[in-house]
Amino acid sequence: FGRSVTLLDEVDSTQEIARALAEEDAPEGTLVIAEQQVKGRGRMGREWVSPSGKGIWMSMVLRPQVPIHFAPQLTLVTAVALCRSLTRVTGLQIGIKWPNDLQINGKKISGILLESAAEDERLRYVIAGIGISANLETGDYPEEMLAKATSLRIQSGTVYDRTAIIADFMEEWEQLYWLYQREGFEKIAALWEALSVSLHRPAVLITPQGVVEGVPVGLHSSGAIIVEQSDGTRAVVFSADMGEPS
Ligand code: BTN
Repeated sequence: FGRSVTLLDEVDSTQEIARALAEEDAPEGTLVIAEQQVKGRGRMGREWVSPSGKGIWMSMVLRPQVPIHFAPQLTLVTAVALCRSLTRVTGLQIGIKWPNDLQINGKKISGILLESAAEDERLRYVIAGIGISANLETGDYPEEMLAKATSLRIQSGTVYDRTAIIADFMEEWEQLYWLYQREGFEKIAALWEALSVSLHRPAVLITPQGVVEGVPVGLHSSGAIIVEQSDGTRAVVFSADMGEPS
């Protein structure tokens, strides 16, 4: 992982570059990192603020040997790895908000976007996009976002070494990814549940399929979240981003 790294200055989105490399048979672990994205994308078609030199904007090519319906699990593996790594590097208290936002004091500091290309129920490749708002200042965000978004720097007053964060994350990611592929999702699910700030309290979950209200109580073995509602429980899958990248 990270043995092939493409470092770029300004791009539309690192997702597209990683996808083009994947289509040209780039090996698993190929990493694309940009200083700045002018069309950074979040989940559900949202914009992702990616100013120059202030954060970590990167996409990784994965070629997991798992069936397509396991793809949601990979997002959760990534969230756990990122949460553990950023907590270790910064000493800040970071939690995972379902499905894969990282939060400090209820505000988002990082997001993950997985997009996959599949053929005959098989994953051809997955592009794992990771955005870490490391050194952004309040002036980097549009005013209306400040209620919900923050950065490691805003929270701690420290300017972080982005290379050190990437190196630590890649190590953590590699370990958890192999654990996942070797032993399955169970241990990852337990780690995710322990780091989650979304369980056992009423929540409004916004999914591409619509809004779900209830009390999330844990993860299903598929990677879906189990939500208790007045008339029973249901498993909610979080993303339509799992389709063909667009
Ligand atoms: C989200 O929380 O909605 C996901 C945000 C993902 C942002 C990253 S930054 C690197 C990669 N390139 C993109 O355009 N998006 C992802």
